[in-house]
Amino acid sequence: MAYSSNLLFLSFFVLTISQTQAKTFQPKALLLPVTKDSSLLQYTTQIKQRTPLVPIKLTIDVGGNFMWEECEKGYVSSSYRPVSCGSKICKISRSGACVVKCPPPHVPGCHNDSCSHLSYNPFTRLSNLGELATDAVSIQSTDGRSSGPMVLVPGLLFSCTPSTPSLLRGLFSGAKGIAGLGRSLVSLPSLFASAFKFQRIFAMCLSSSSQSGGVIIFGDVPYEFQLKKEVSKSLMYTPLIHNPKSTRRFYSKDDPSTDYFICLTSIKINSREVPLNMSLLNIDKEGKGGTKISTFDPYTVMERSIFTAVLKVFMEKTEGMTRVPSVKPFQYCISSKNLGSTRVGPPVPTIDLGLHYKSVSWKIYGANSMVQVKDDVLCLGFVDGGLNPRTSVVVGGHQLEDNLLQFDLVKRRLGFTSSLLFMQTNCANFNFTSSV
Ligand SMILES: *[C@@H]1O[C@H](CO)[C@@H](O)[C@H](O)[C@H]1NC(C)=O
Ligand SMILES: *[C@@H]1O[C@H](CO)[C@@H](O)[C@H](O)[C@H]1NC(C)=O
Ligand SMILES: *[C@@H]1O[C@H](CO)[C@@H](O)[C@H](O)[C@H]1NC(C)=O
Repeated sequence: MAYSSNLLFLSFFVLTISQTQAKTFQPKALLLPVTKDSSLLQYTTQIKQRTPLVPIKLTIDVGGNFMWEECEKGYVSSSYRPVSCGSKICKISRSGACVVKCPPPHVPGCHNDSCSHLSYNPFTRLSNLGELATDAVSIQSTDGRSSGPMVLVPGLLFSCTPSTPSLLRGLFSGAKGIAGLGRSLVSLPSLFASAFKFQRIFAMCLSSSSQSGGVIIFGDVPYEFQLKKEVSKSLMYTPLIHNPKSTRRFYSKDDPSTDYFICLTSIKINSREVPLNMSLLNIDKEGKGGTKISTFDPYTVMERSIFTAVLKVFMEKTEGMTRVPSVKPFQYCISSKNLGSTRVGPPVPTIDLGLHYKSVSWKIYGANSMVQVKDDVLCLGFVDGGLNPRTSVVVGGHQLEDNLLQFDLVKRRLGFTSSLLFMQTNCANFNFTSSV
């Protein structure tokens, strides 16, 4: 009798503690540090997952549907839970597949009645069916100014993907999968927002340096970088465009794209308008055309006629500079000897991406247009996408670096700052104070 009342007291006590903790630990926003892998030019992050917690390295895919991880072998966690086929989260993930029976042993990745989904590697364009599951994840909180205490998400959805055949090919060494931030209800921004009741908004600031990292902030807070208060005040906005069809391989025909598309309407180079075939800039019924943002293309890729037209005007505007032999994958390179430099990189013509209104433009200065390929050689960092690509313009990593981008999934708009270098700061200047 005395024993059981003791037990009762104990469980009451534990309950009180965890409730108090939950109250004091309501984060305003969450934070993922981002590092650039210098050999593959991928943007990477690390989360702590499972019970006990284990660090997991992932490649960031800004348009990715959800987080997936290769986990069949050696996955040990007391908090792993497979998602059942009839559950609500299985339905909203648009899975369309169910593993009714999985032969024992029932380990992570193999359970009866488990919701199954296609994990996708954008680098190899290959897919594999994984088991949707939830597990504990520990992530750093933030108020937008500096990093705060770690918080625990008890069950964060991800896809547990078999290790044979491995889907990790093409990812940086040490990567266990992909962190998908795309336009879906099961991507990390959506899941974090529902776990902590904040807005489905996130900001991404990729650093150009592989030595000092950038940051992704989930939640609606004012963003501050050192020496510059409130970068948020410099945001300009443009609508995010719905693409009715996925632009990735192996997706069901009815699935809308989870990539972030914007409405590019013109390109100007030092105020000269580049002649473009406007029909390529629209998205047709089959999901072809348009302009999207990508973290797995290291450089902006343009359909051939657009690429050629941009190159022609850019060459005219840099006539006085010394052309040197091109270095792959680029076509136009110049000598940077005696070229000098500005706060926003090499002094080359500014490239203006005109958006839904021509007055709203994303400005690309030398630091984002030119790539230093060797001492004294700079190349225009755009790549020929060939004839007939699925998406006409893919804005890639080099052009995104040291720009703060805010993806607002509620208002369906993209906020952007153009180069932070103009404000005398950069994406590596986030104040990471507390230890991870
Ligand atoms: C899984 O399904 C098989 C076949 O229906 C059944 O024999 C087995 O007991 C089930 N396992 C679990 C853990 O439910
Ligand atoms: C960074 O953040 C910490 C904690 O909020 C603060 O004490 C420190 O002054 C900040 N550093 C700078 C340079 O703003
Ligand atoms: C513009 O692009 C569309 C779609 O690719 C193509 O059908 C059309 O022929 C192009 N127009 C011109 C003038 O090149």
